[in-house]
Amino acid sequence: MSPTMNDDLLNDSSNTVHAPARTDISHIHQFLGAPTPQAWLDAALQDIPTLIQDHANCEKKAAGTAMNLIFRYEFHQDLQLKLAQLIREEMLHYEQVVGIMRERGQPWKHLSASRYAKGMLKHKRTYEPAAMIDILIIGAFIEARSCERFAALSEVIDDERLAKYYRYLLKSESRHYEDYITLARSLEPKRQQSEAQLDFEALQQATNGSINLDQQTMDVDQRIAFFRQIEAELITSSDKELRFHSGTPA
Ligand SMILES: [Fe+2]
Ligand SMILES: [Fe+2]
Repeated sequence: MSPTMNDDLLNDSSNTVHAPARTDISHIHQFLGAPTPQAWLDAALQDIPTLIQDHANCEKKAAGTAMNLIFRYEFHQDLQLKLAQLIREEMLHYEQVVGIMRERGQPWKHLSASRYAKGMLKHKRTYEPAAMIDILIIGAFIEARSCERFAALSEVIDDERLAKYYRYLLKSESRHYEDYITLARSLEPKRQQSEAQLDFEALQQATNGSINLDQQTMDVDQRIAFFRQIEAELITSSDKELRFHSGTPA
């Protein structure tokens, strides 16, 4: 177990299992199109090892996806800084979750990925900067849903160690959601004029393609509304496998 995790957990004075989360995530509840169904929480509580194993996978994937974005969008400085921090934090979480598995004597088990991220990524537009806007919005939804589920789990799980750990994660996961939204919004034309965040010519060269800067393409709010529906459908519809981001158990 990393010393950082122990320090943070020792500083968490909420020692009872069902202490309310101290991080305000009401903006995350507003952002998401549907709350986690009670049936998912019930199923998750029945299979904590699968939940923990998939949580470890998710932390690693969150870091990997962000690393890909750092390479792909190297000319966006704010993205470099925000995602470098995010990667450090996701890898710390990965280390912590693997540490929890070791504490519990839980062996590593291969789990297939859930349908969740794929279900959103298949709607990602393929031309720039639309693809960049979409991947950042998808990142925001994944982080927001993770945060919402950690908060919900921390209130019902009958394991003090995990409840405290899930509450501890809320602060960084809600910031990750905010960072992805800020980065998506940084591409909006009105912000481009004032802040010049992104060199679109560099983007064109780097992606070796034509770019489309029309109003419709660059409308971040419209894409958030679109992915909100897709995401809520993935969370509320029937799903045969339990995963951290799975839908309602079939
Ligand atoms: Fe994380
Ligand atoms: Fe995260």
